[in-house]
Amino acid sequence: MEIILAKSAGYCFGVNQAVEMVEEALLKNEEAIYTLGPLIHNRQVTDELDRRGAHIISDVEGIKNGIIAVRSHGVGEDIMSAIKDGGNRLIDATCPYVKKIHKRVNEYHKKGYQIFIIGDADHPEVIGINGWCNYEGIILGNKNSVPRTAKYDKICVVAQTTMNLGVFHEISQEILRIYPEAVILNTICNATKTRQEETAALAAKADCMVVIGGLHSSNTVKLAEISRAHCKKTLHIETAAELDLNDIKTCDIIGITAGASTPHWIIKEVINKMTKSFEEMLKDSEMEASYEE
Ligand code: F3S
Repeated sequence: MEIILAKSAGYCFGVNQAVEMVEEALLKNEEAIYTLGPLIHNRQVTDELDRRGAHIISDVEGIKNGIIAVRSHGVGEDIMSAIKDGGNRLIDATCPYVKKIHKRVNEYHKKGYQIFIIGDADHPEVIGINGWCNYEGIILGNKNSVPRTAKYDKICVVAQTTMNLGVFHEISQEILRIYPEAVILNTICNATKTRQEETAALAAKADCMVVIGGLHSSNTVKLAEISRAHCKKTLHIETAAELDLNDIKTCDIIGITAGASTPHWIIKEVINKMTKSFEEMLKDSEMEASYEE
């Protein structure tokens, strides 16, 4: 059995920065810290942060003079103002790549462009981006959602950072077909692209793929989809406890990848569980061999 771990598996730069910022604040402050939404899409990590004093809130209303952390997904301009207006201290853990999208959306919106956001309308990052153009952006989840009849003089297109590159190209092509003058900004994060490409390459040669990460984490769900397209036996698990060793025991090559919110200790636990069983299998086969002799 060979286990191959994708180089890009686990925390991306933005998530790592967000977790570090909140952990540092927990060490420096006696008071509770509030994170606006789960800091990352990983229940094991957010439960541990909660235990240490970083509690999840869904709304800033009613929180005054506290410490509020904005996660890597970012939030709209109005929410940033509401945090400051409440006299709260802000820990701005918005990923710099997401911040760059906010800035460009805001600039183009002020110049009179209609903003199109390619992404998932319900995703907090998309809602946050829309909050930098007064929530007037049009969210496009597929090429059929591109408006065909409306007249826009100027259009600026951005994408959710975790968008699948193929889908982004498909929707962009459709936009350019209808609105040839549209400004298309490919704002997909490289970390996502690298992770998706590595997953596809690994899945193509693996007998089984294990994708580790939150079952509701959009970037992990996308990784599992990509993996499944190349390797039918793709298992999506959140923790080592969910790995059924019976599912992998006949596999020669096992590929492992993990979403951007998966801490390295969870990846390590999964590998440990596999290698332990591998060692036991070896021991068993050695025993059988010596018995046969
Ligand atoms: Fe940032 Fe890219 Fe991660 S946008 S949060 S580094 S996936």
